[in-house]
Amino acid sequence: MKNIAILGSTGSIGTSTLSIVASYPERYRVASLVAGRNVHLAFQQCARWRPLLASMATPELAQQLAARLRSSGVTGIEIVHGTEGSVRAATLKEVDFVVSAIVGVAGLEATYAAVMAGKPIGLANKECMVAAGEILTAAAREEKVPLLPIDSEHNAIHQCMRAGTLQEVKQIWLTASGGPFRKLPLSEFEHITVEQALKHPTWVMGQRITIDSATLLNKGLEIIEACRLFDLPPAQVKVTVHPQSTVHSLVEYVDGSILAQISVTDMRLPILYALSYPERVESELNFDMRALADLHFEPPDLERFPCLRLAYEAAEAGGAHPIALNASDEVAVAAFLEGRISFMGIPRTIEEVLAATPASHPSTIAEVLEVDAQSRERAHAVIAARTVAARKDMPVRA
Ligand SMILES: NC(=O)c1ccc[n+]([C@@H]2O[C@H](COP(=O)([O-])OP(=O)(O)OC[C@H]3O[C@@H](n4cnc5c(N)ncnc54)[C@H](OP(=O)(O)O)[C@@H]3O)[C@@H](O)[C@H]2O)c1
Repeated sequence: MKNIAILGSTGSIGTSTLSIVASYPERYRVASLVAGRNVHLAFQQCARWRPLLASMATPELAQQLAARLRSSGVTGIEIVHGTEGSVRAATLKEVDFVVSAIVGVAGLEATYAAVMAGKPIGLANKECMVAAGEILTAAAREEKVPLLPIDSEHNAIHQCMRAGTLQEVKQIWLTASGGPFRKLPLSEFEHITVEQALKHPTWVMGQRITIDSATLLNKGLEIIEACRLFDLPPAQVKVTVHPQSTVHSLVEYVDGSILAQISVTDMRLPILYALSYPERVESELNFDMRALADLHFEPPDLERFPCLRLAYEAAEAGGAHPIALNASDEVAVAAFLEGRISFMGIPRTIEEVLAATPASHPSTIAEVLEVDAQSRERAHAVIAARTVAARKDMPVRA
């Protein structure tokens, strides 16, 4: 029986993880849950799964959760909050495995603490690999903790890499669905609405990753995540646009063999793989072979999707630049969702923040978080300057 901590239990990955736990009650049990602001769902999850501990983002939300549990007669669950609460949830002595699925760098400290406590990690939270991948992978090597990717592309690469050694890998190919605007003419990108950008053609996910998939910044974050997870330079990590999302990624070996991982478009499969690794357990996530009749691959268009170019540049620069890429994107996506900047304002904001980021190599989580905070400030300033310029009727591009 594996006791699991789920960081981000109320999100898309968190709820999929709980559905795997529900399907395999003889294998997995919930030890702790971490949610952000969704008290209603956190309450339902606590009532059903009876974890030892649950955490909310703030003290007020934690109080609300505790009060609802009390009034429903649910007892025996310790309710905590904030980063300290997430860290407690991830490091409880009873926890055997941590699913890291908080969105953004909010999940970084708990993921790092889990590694340092020797807990195997199922890693969905790519932002924490982008911001602090070198620190996390070094700590995982030191502590001999497996970091098992849940992101479907990296999970596919992990599976294909079991067939050879790192030295035998020529390059890896991350597949990208291309998002909803793969065929939209560049001239129309300026007018993309929030509603259009939130309609992903193949996956149902949280808001930030859905917008990141539409700009292809998500693929950019995945390039950096792959470099860190698999110890490869950016030049060996390629992207191919594959709209069907059937081939989840490929590994090309030096002898010319290419191995691909193919499965249903359902995140429960990579979650199950990570939870059960190195075993494989039987599932009902069957693939319909007829889906192989129509597979299409094409190179990405860097002109319409500048975020991909920016990510390669940040990956090459390393250090502070991937942190700034992730932080400025998070701020820009929030501004786009609130209608404060246009769709193309997202890459423009990131580009300005990257250009203003001094080269540095943070070597602790505290230093990473400092660069993250500075990058957020820069992104807010870039967006505010554009908004002021727009109000004064000055020529603007945001
Ligand atoms: N969804 C996918 O298919 C998919 C695939 C690959 C990788 N990923 C990665 O997995 C991560 C999660 O994605 P998602 O799609 O599941 O996102 P999501 O649906 O937006 O869920 C995010 C989760 O993080 C929690 N959260 C946010 N801020 C928090 C904070 N300050 N403290 C504690 N919890 C906090 C949210 O809580 P509340 O909802 O309660 O506020 C929610 O449980 C992301 O890094 C994403 O890139 C997702």
